[in-house]
Amino acid sequence: MEVDAVDLVGPDRYARNGAPHEAWKVLRREDPIHWCEPDGFESFWAITTHTDITTVSSQPDLFSSEEGIVLLSSQQLTVPQQQMRTLIEMDPPEHRSYRKVTSHCFTPKAIGSLHEIVTSSARNVIDALGAEGECDMVEQVAKRHPLRVLTTILGVDREDEERMLELTQQLLGSADPDLRRENDDQTAALGEIMAEFVTMFDRIIQDRRAQPRDDLATVLAAAHLEGCPMGVTETLGYYLILFTAGHETTRNALSGAIEAFARHPKELERLAQHPELMSSAVEEVLRWTSSVNYMKRTLLRDTVLRGRTLKEGDRLVLFYGSANRDERVFDDPFVFNIARHPNRHLGFGYAEHFCLGAHLARASITAVVKQLAARTNALELAGEPQNMASSFVIGRKTLPIRYSFALVA
Ligand code: HEM
Repeated sequence: MEVDAVDLVGPDRYARNGAPHEAWKVLRREDPIHWCEPDGFESFWAITTHTDITTVSSQPDLFSSEEGIVLLSSQQLTVPQQQMRTLIEMDPPEHRSYRKVTSHCFTPKAIGSLHEIVTSSARNVIDALGAEGECDMVEQVAKRHPLRVLTTILGVDREDEERMLELTQQLLGSADPDLRRENDDQTAALGEIMAEFVTMFDRIIQDRRAQPRDDLATVLAAAHLEGCPMGVTETLGYYLILFTAGHETTRNALSGAIEAFARHPKELERLAQHPELMSSAVEEVLRWTSSVNYMKRTLLRDTVLRGRTLKEGDRLVLFYGSANRDERVFDDPFVFNIARHPNRHLGFGYAEHFCLGAHLARASITAVVKQLAARTNALELAGEPQNMASSFVIGRKTLPIRYSFALVA
């Protein structure tokens, strides 16, 4: 089979076909480090196996994140991009000092203290659906739950929640005509969106500086780097990365979880009967959905990988979605199995940039899946789901579901 490189990275292709599993299968088998020159995008090496992705991710001094983590389209290359640097686009040692600013807020213990917020948010979104009916689960559940959790921990007022959501969607969905801000000039639109974010976050920072509390927002407002107060741009960038990295990813993992259980009802029954499988079920959701589809790296020096010579400046695209179906690592990788063990998925990346919010994401997904397992009488597709037009953070744009839930968990 010929692999069309546009299938690997073209947002429209993902909208139409979903993740390119057939192409990845061929690449894993025949050419795991594959040179791609897709029409309309930067050229890159497609890295598709679990082992090669962990090898690359373990060497951040050689495979850099500083040139950006998203593959650019030719159109994006001709216009200036948003310039706010955040920790996800930094290399060590700078990356480590930035990460240290908040890493204590994301430990299992710190996330454990958010249990009440996370649980009540999940219960509320499911309660709001009523006992039975039909709805778009992206709109009613997958979007709302992480929004409530993240805005709460970031100190965003309730009345700004929807605004925050709209801005993030416009920021991340710029390739999707249904999601992006209406403006003929998308560069100007990006500038406007950033300015509106800045206004919102600046208010929170000022508030926490005046009245410190025991929360993440206060940690950011009072943050120091190498002994000096963190600059305004850096602080705002930090807020932005936490919200943007945390919302769309969790949202897509949640809609993917609901869809997986609707398509595999026996797995949901099994979970209801065996609640001790909850944590392996959540890991399987993360593997299955792989909502962060890839990350880009740029090579800082010539090197050899699996016998191939790669040149300084070459770009590599690490396809986590492919690694998470790698048949050398996972038995029956195309089977959704909530008891899968071991499950060394790369849904949160690997090593240096391993997802800072992994424990929070797990807690948020667990809270919803617990509600589903405890309360579902029936859960089935009520129409064809649609995909987002994105190849980076991927998932459903709509998920029509017919449901019947017991009212009290
Ligand atoms: C299901 C949900 C999530 C998935 C699948 C996910 C996935 C990922 C992946 C694959 C990376 C690695 C980036 C790289 O290698 O360059 C990453 C990094 C990151 N994630 Fe998540 N993430 C999720 C939820 C969250 C949440 C809830 C937060 C925070 C509130 C968060 C914050 C971050 C941050 C700050 C980074 C950058 C870490 C660094 O550069 O050191 N993520 N995430």
